Amino acid sequence: ENAYLITHGLAKDTLSRIRDVETEQVSFRKGLVKLGRICGYEIIDGRMETEYVEIETPLEPTMGERVRGLDDVVIINVLRAATPFVEGLLKAFPRARQGVISASRDEEAGRAEDGSFPITVDYVKLPEIHEEDTVIVADPMLATGSTMCTVLDHVVENSTEPENLIVLSAVSAPDGLLRVSESVPEADLLTVSIDDYLDEDGFIVPGLGDAGDRAFR
Ligand code: PRP
Repeated sequence: ENAYLITHGLAKDTLSRIRDVETEQVSFRKGLVKLGRICGYEIIDGRMETEYVEIETPLEPTMGERVRGLDDVVIINVLRAATPFVEGLLKAFPRARQGVISASRDEEAGRAEDGSFPITVDYVKLPEIHEEDTVIVADPMLATGSTMCTVLDHVVENSTEPENLIVLSAVSAPDGLLRVSESVPEADLLTVSIDDYLDEDGFIVPGLGDAGDRAFR
């Protein structure tokens, strides 16, 4: 299983604040933005290399470093809960190309026997993906993984395999991580927390409730 924890202290601190039931809409949304920014910095720190470059300071030439591949980043926003999370990621990757996909669980249809939900996809607009790209598919919640598997099908179909394919979530459930890693083994799954379990409605426990509702309602 290609699951990796983001262990930055500030990521854990911020996640704990947004988990709190007392955190209201504005603070919740700001927390997701902050978490996105920290996760972006962690992706740069852990998965991207720096290269030496000559620079000219106002006084004299010297060697500096820059992050290789910073201009070859694609961020995919899984509507709607990912929107503030992506806003934070963009602070780390300001020149990223962006994709948007609206996918949500058809909760009325109920869970299938394998624990997945049917997914309704309403809108897909993805940039072209190139082999040198780092593609980050962001969604704060990875519950059953049904949404993410559907999103990744769209990302992977008709595109060259990118250098890095990263699924980024704030909170995830073990079942969802397993489902996504089985379905798309080439993806690295990054998350700030792997929570305990899914309840019968497919909610992550302890989780943070319904991220979309808490950010937008
Ligand atoms: C939530 C969440 C994920 C999905 C995770 O979205 O933001 O997209 O559920 O569940 P899964 O792993 O079991 O598929 P939701 O469908 O509630 O839509 P919303 O973001 O518009 O609220």
